[in-house]
Amino acid sequence: MKIQWPHCSTHKSFASDNNSGIHPAILDAIQRANHGHFVAYGDDPYTQEALRVFKQIFGASTETFFVYNGTGANVTGLSTITKTFHSILTTDTAHIVCDECGSPEKMTGCSLKQLPNTLGKLSPRQLYRFLEYKGIEHHSQPKVVSITQATELGTVYTPEEIKEICDFAHQNNMYVHLDGARIANAAATLHLPLKAMTMDCGVDVLSFGGTKNGMAYGEALVFASPDLAADALFVRKQHAQLASKMRFISAQFLAYFDQDLWLQNATCANRMAHYLKSAIQSQLPEVRIAKPVESNAVFVYLPKNKAPLLQKESFFYPWDQDSSEYRWMTSFDTTEQDIEEFVSRMKKILSS
Ligand SMILES: Cc1ncc(COP(=O)(O)O)c(C=O)c1O
Repeated sequence: MKIQWPHCSTHKSFASDNNSGIHPAILDAIQRANHGHFVAYGDDPYTQEALRVFKQIFGASTETFFVYNGTGANVTGLSTITKTFHSILTTDTAHIVCDECGSPEKMTGCSLKQLPNTLGKLSPRQLYRFLEYKGIEHHSQPKVVSITQATELGTVYTPEEIKEICDFAHQNNMYVHLDGARIANAAATLHLPLKAMTMDCGVDVLSFGGTKNGMAYGEALVFASPDLAADALFVRKQHAQLASKMRFISAQFLAYFDQDLWLQNATCANRMAHYLKSAIQSQLPEVRIAKPVESNAVFVYLPKNKAPLLQKESFFYPWDQDSSEYRWMTSFDTTEQDIEEFVSRMKKILSS
């Protein structure tokens, strides 16, 4: 059989950080783990070391489970801490609501209550009305508040905001799940250790992302205590998230944390988002910045008649077609030159 390998793409994509490749140090870690035979399903020295590192970062009482992807982390985490008659309170922009094909509802059996977001965030004020349902058999029982950090709109919760949500949840016998697909970008913005913005604020379950920040695949599910994690082993397997060759996820995490590669990558992506914002403001007067830039996403309003042409030149996703809002994202390997080239291609079309 003759295979036709795709040609290398010449331009970097600004559609999603998922479009980037693998950081060379991560690829090298996969290669380094690729020798000999080791016991499968996590009983290998790479996984044992990676689990030790997670405890060091998030605290001795935490329990971590590696999974394949972000959706898998979210649904495995949520399923572990809920029963089917519970409800999960979140924003109307949450990935678990908009982009997981109903998997959280299917896999947890819970109902998802969507609350209007304020720049991607929710606040405890919005949660009070659900307390009325507590103890009433006709209503699903509010059990989890799920927030995303950095949010789907690229904004970042302060630790105080997260703590306020966690305090509210715990006072009312609820848990907090944090979708941290881009937690590295938030940490780079806040200049805080990962624990200070999660477990120290009271987060119960964290979906810890790596794929969007230089890993090939693989995410971690971090529970604040062994009690919370009691069923996670079994739920992960039922959710088809147990990797037999787990060492190749674990080895990636070892490289990810070695010499703070995760933070270097996220800092670069964030810096490039700010560079992109400045380049837009100085070179593309027809393009308006739509949201505060706080991580690696830049939301823009594009002239309606030109947007499809711009997308054709370099594909990116619409956010809200009615208002002609689109999302551009930077990655760990975006450079100033990539941005200059992208902006000049956009400029050509906008001025034609
Ligand atoms: C905020 C957020 N959470 C979760 C995910 C899920 O990741 P995956 O596509 O690996 O399932 C994504 C992916 O884009 C995301 O943006």
